[in-house]
Order: sequence, then C-alpha cells, then structure tokens
Amino acid sequence: MAQQTRIVVVISGSGSNLQAIIDACAEGLVPGQIVGVISNKGEAYGLTRAANAGIEGITLPAEKGESRESYDARLAAKLDALNADLVVLAGFMRILSPALVQKFAGKMLNIHPSLLPKYTGLNTHQRALDAGDSEHGCSVHFVTEELDGGPVILQAKVPVFVEDTIEALTQRVHTQEHRIYPLVVKWFCEGRLAMNDQGALLDGQLLPEQGYASEE
Ligand code: GAR
Repeated sequence: MAQQTRIVVVISGSGSNLQAIIDACAEGLVPGQIVGVISNKGEAYGLTRAANAGIEGITLPAEKGESRESYDARLAAKLDALNADLVVLAGFMRILSPALVQKFAGKMLNIHPSLLPKYTGLNTHQRALDAGDSEHGCSVHFVTEELDGGPVILQAKVPVFVEDTIEALTQRVHTQEHRIYPLVVKWFCEGRLAMNDQGALLDGQLLPEQGYASEE
C-alpha cells in the first residue's frame, strides 16, 4: 500500500472542519492520516474532538509579547516533529509569518468563509449580509504570504435569503465547508493537487482564478 499522507490540522476553536476531515479519514475516503492536531487555544473544543478520535493534540499558546516569527518557529518545529506532509489550517485565527508560509509552500491549505477574493479577513458573514449579497460561500485555497490571497482550489456557493439571520447564514456556509474541505484534502492526498507561480493545479490543469466551482 502507498504511504499515507501525514496530515496535521491546526485550529483555534470548535474544530467542526477538523471533525469533517477526521470522519472522512475514518470512512476511508481520504488516503491520509491525521497525525496531530495543534491548537493555539487550550480550551479549543477541537482538541476534545482529536482526543475522542485518538489523535495527538498539542496546545501551543503564544507567550505574552512573543513575536509572530518566534511563535511560528515553534509551530514549524512541531509540524516538523510530526513529519507533516500536509498542513490543514481549519479555523486557525492567527496571521502567519512569511517564513512559515514559505517553508510549507504548496503543502498548506486554508478554508475561508467567503467567496474569495471577496471578504478577506474577519466577519465575512456579516459583511455579506450588510452588502445585501444574494450569494455567499466558502473557499479552500493554498496558503501564500498574502492574507487569504493564495490560489483558490474549490469554492461552494450558498444563497443568501432576504430574511437570513447571521446564525442561519453561518450554518449554511458551515455545511458546505464540511463538504468541500475533506474533498480537497482527499485530492491532495491522492497527489492530484499542486501549486505553482501561476496558481493551483488539479491533475496538472491550472484551475480558474476562483477555483473549481462546487454548487448544490
Ligand atoms: C470556519 O468557518 C472557517 O472558515 C473559519 O473559521 C471557522 C472555523 O470553524 N476560518 C477563518 O475565518 C480563517 N480566517 P471550525 O473551528 O468549526 O472548523
């Protein structure tokens, strides 16, 4: 059997995307193994999800006044110790230093709750509601030095209804996140994904700027 891809998931919170990937691995859908979960927050529920699945959980809080470079060097050391082939950012709420991003170029994925390049940064659901958008969604992309700006691999769109609350819209997007992130991780583990200076490639084909569109 081919060597399984060693996946490390990096989180800050609930870890519902982590759970979706744990489940996909357990069901044999992903030819990879989650070998560790790292959280910068000790109270993150995702650490409980990792423990429940028998996966090593590591709490790595930033020290008071610690520089981004110093924290990221410690994070890189943990990723190296776990022999990570793929780093999956799943609700990790820190900006990464260029050194860390470069070290894992083409091997680090992120999920962002908007149809990138729209709404980089925070409060994406509220911003979509405030703008009166009729559609919203989520994007999985390779991580580059540009915040939420790396090449998009896959997007899922959801409708925004006039009477939507932030909770309803957040939930609708989350449901799609849990569908597309495991799929992209699967593609990576199957060796089908790559990144070059032109963008993201699936099966050697350059993906369009907004990634592969996945609509339901
Ligand atoms: C997800 O909605 C993800 O898109 C978002 O955090 C949430 C984490 O949820 N990520 C970002 O905003 C990154 N900038 P989860 O902990 O339940 O997976």
